[in-house]
Amino acid sequence: MKIKTISAIIAIIFLSNIYAMAQKTIAKATKGKFLFGVAVNMQQVNGNNPTESELIAREFNAIVAENCMKPQPIHPQEDKYQWTDADKFVAFGEKNKQAITGHCLIWHSQIGRWFFVDENGKDVTPEVLKERMRQHIMTVVGRYKGRVQGWDVVNEAFEDDGTYRNSKFYRILGKDFIKYAFQFAHEADPDAELYYNDYNVETPAKCDAIVELVKELRAAGCRIDAVGSQGHMHMDDPTLEATETSLMKLKAAGVKVLITEWDISILPSPYSGANISARFTYSKEMDPYREGVPDSVQQEWNKRVLDMFELFLKHNDVVDRVTLWALNDSISWLNNFPIRGRKDYPVLFDRNNQPKSVVADMIMMAKKYKKKG
Ligand code: GLA
Repeated sequence: MKIKTISAIIAIIFLSNIYAMAQKTIAKATKGKFLFGVAVNMQQVNGNNPTESELIAREFNAIVAENCMKPQPIHPQEDKYQWTDADKFVAFGEKNKQAITGHCLIWHSQIGRWFFVDENGKDVTPEVLKERMRQHIMTVVGRYKGRVQGWDVVNEAFEDDGTYRNSKFYRILGKDFIKYAFQFAHEADPDAELYYNDYNVETPAKCDAIVELVKELRAAGCRIDAVGSQGHMHMDDPTLEATETSLMKLKAAGVKVLITEWDISILPSPYSGANISARFTYSKEMDPYREGVPDSVQQEWNKRVLDMFELFLKHNDVVDRVTLWALNDSISWLNNFPIRGRKDYPVLFDRNNQPKSVVADMIMMAKKYKKKG
């Protein structure tokens, strides 16, 4: 072989190694396709566990706060806001040059009871509730104006059958509470993206209701950029077909889709069990992997992750972000939900903060897909 040919080969090997090194996180491999994010807690923001803080900085280009921006922690009483944690969270994302999502402005859960009642404990009038929403949203969104890329404006307003959840917001204001929330958020930061976020978006009736909501909001002149599909998944639910159909429906409605809280529980799901009364009761049968996950089950989980991830990549014209709901298995909420005290393995880093083997496969897979056009 001629010297020139040999040096060309060496140069190619050298360059492709550099390329491979540059792509060795999922966030790098999905760059230009979608953002790859993670939910973070305050221990991580505060650096109490430096390994986790470093992993978050290195492996992800988007973050969302697991708790500190929810209505209850950030606005525990009508005249009291607690900014310390949320301020640190936003600064953490800025330091790491990550896209920051504000989660969440209006939600029936994790919200102070004061929001809905007067000094006698009676439900407030629609006018008072609307004004409290306005104050809350203007104050929170206003504080982080220009620093938060987008907000989960309303979380979980629908039941799975597509009817409105009978929350206090709905009971007092009717479905217009959603429109008001989007109007206030836009007024507070006209440049921020605005999202509607929910779980089981793959359920046809629920997806249709969300599509209808998008149309109604747009007809009322509201800004809505994307629907957040939480993506809390099980081994066989939702199906790939149902997931793809929901992506297509939302795309047709003209919004982007964000997979906002992705995790795949490896444990048996009480929801599909025959005995509904055993739903939340701990039993050894519902917690089969305390000593570790058998290889065959791990392979099935890996395949499930790759199948879903491939779907997101294939539809990256509409999927703008994929965010995991926890950095590692030990801190996932699924260890305590819907049954307390189980040992689940739902995310991409293990209990020692090591990437699971599927991560390398995801990187390879992501590289094969083209960037957004
Ligand atoms: C919902 C919320 C999240 C989080 C999870 C459980 O999906 O949107 O903020 O509370 O439940 O941890």
